[in-house]
Amino acid sequence: MNFHILTLFPEMILSGLSHSITGRAMDKGQISVNAVDFREYATNKYKHVDDYPYGGGAGMLIQAEPVYLAYEDLVKKMEKKPRVIYVTPQGDVFRQSMAEELAKEEDVIFLCGHYEGIDERVLEEIVTDQVSIGDYVLTGGELPVMVMIDAISRLVPGVLNNDVSAEFESFNDNLLEYPQYTRPAEYHGKKVPDVLLSGHHANIEKWRREQSLKRTLERRPDLLQEANLTKKDLKYLKSLGYEADSK
Ligand code: ADE
Repeated sequence: MNFHILTLFPEMILSGLSHSITGRAMDKGQISVNAVDFREYATNKYKHVDDYPYGGGAGMLIQAEPVYLAYEDLVKKMEKKPRVIYVTPQGDVFRQSMAEELAKEEDVIFLCGHYEGIDERVLEEIVTDQVSIGDYVLTGGELPVMVMIDAISRLVPGVLNNDVSAEFESFNDNLLEYPQYTRPAEYHGKKVPDVLLSGHHANIEKWRREQSLKRTLERRPDLLQEANLTKKDLKYLKSLGYEADSK
């Protein structure tokens, strides 16, 4: 999968993603990260890409033309028009389901704003999706882009060594992950739950499922509405005081 990022800070993105799992995926060619500095497309000799907003107000705005020229240069090499994601606190909030959907694309372009934003006309012209990573305001779109690329990359086949872990982790099926333990069996006086040492696979599965349900109920009860719950799950949740909405 190929990620293209239009940004004023390409080094920030490349250095952020070139470690650990995303770094290895880049080395293996499972993902590519092409960070394009749209300052290179400035149409003036000073390489300025920002200007004052019409109508006045604080801050500067990124001009439409350099963003458009950088975009045009990128897409002319592509067979299909890719999705163009503008990262902004005004967008839809990024979720696991969005990461799953984007992981199916061959190419995705992210557009990062800085200063007070980008001229609306180029956004109308090229952007297909506006996405936020949460209800807080950052200084620019680079960190959100790194967050999204990380979440999408781990869903690209082969990026995680074992596909099972991507499948079963938090948010798979809208349930949080159960607690996990490794050696030693006792640490600071706390013992690993007996069932995990029992070797009884069916009991372990049952315990893990119940822990997931309990955790989700305690920490993110909103997720239970979307989870695929069996009769057994509902019975267990009911024993913890959960009342399912009649849908
Ligand atoms: N740019 C600034 N803040 C942001 C946020 N929360 N999500 C996405 N892009 C942003």
